[in-house]
Amino acid sequence: MAENGLEQTARALVAPGKGILAADESDGTIKKRFDAIQVESTEESRRAYRELLFTTAGMEEHISGVILYDETIRQSSADGTPFPELLESKGVIPGIKVDKGAKPLALAEGETITEGLDALRERLAEYRDLGARFAKWRATYSIGEEFPTEYCIWTNAHALARYAALCEEAGLVPIVEPEVLQDGTHSIEESAKATGRVLQAVYTELHDQRIEYRGTLLKPNMVLSGYSASSRAGVDEVADATLEVLYKHVPAAVPGIVFLSGGQTDEDATVHLNAMNALGPHPWELSFSYGRALQAAALKAWRGEEANVQAAQDAFAHRARMNGLARSGEYSPDLEKEFAAV
Ligand code: 13P
Repeated sequence: MAENGLEQTARALVAPGKGILAADESDGTIKKRFDAIQVESTEESRRAYRELLFTTAGMEEHISGVILYDETIRQSSADGTPFPELLESKGVIPGIKVDKGAKPLALAEGETITEGLDALRERLAEYRDLGARFAKWRATYSIGEEFPTEYCIWTNAHALARYAALCEEAGLVPIVEPEVLQDGTHSIEESAKATGRVLQAVYTELHDQRIEYRGTLLKPNMVLSGYSASSRAGVDEVADATLEVLYKHVPAAVPGIVFLSGGQTDEDATVHLNAMNALGPHPWELSFSYGRALQAAALKAWRGEEANVQAAQDAFAHRARMNGLARSGEYSPDLEKEFAAV
């Protein structure tokens, strides 16, 4: 693996103090985010918003890589610089979401299978030419009385491994993202059990499909009580439960674990990551690959107005900085005010 640099890229993505910005919202998802701030989703508004994020001064101090979407990797800044080139010029590694979304799993009502394997080899080659150096594929699982089923767990694990093998062949670092959704009223114990079953299957398939773990990153959910549970586990419990599952199921050869933020508040996503790093050192780097938790404040500040670009960039830079501190357990909620964007 060392010869094609996969491990080097994976390690750079989880460099100390840094994590990944997930800016790979599909057309449907970015429309939802824009609807919430009453901005029309057009190719130009999506481009302008992504430019705002990528040109934020100093973001490269805490952001190691950015996950782009098919449309975004082909777009450019106002001065005509292609986004992948703009990111590389700041020392930020461009990546690309390559799955085609979670679709209903046949004969398994309520569960999903992620599609996108057809012609993936050719698409990866094109993305590499466009400047991508890593990729992402997300599988989703719900927790319920009978969910997730073994059927859903193993079909998604198999697809994740097929994707990862094609990425390694193409010289792209695969981010393997099995997301156990934390919606619902489940307990933290149920979340731990479901997450453990999912990770066990994922690493069985990755192993059987000859994946070199050192050239990969894992992007899992944190182990949480359901967002609608009547009583929810606190920070220490979340940190302990998440680490317990990861220690049991993730090989030490994996260089880094980059959490998704899911439906957590911005501060919860930071506090939880901080608490886990404060309990380190761990066999893998524990970092972030946040979408919502890095962007929510910036979107709210922007509202589609040119005059608000600076305020939005300040909000994004602030969250990136807070999460950068959480990489080493040095974050505290008091810092929110101290370093708050002006
Ligand atoms: P969130 O942090 O908003 O969950 O997004 C991360 C991501 O890339 C989901 O696939």
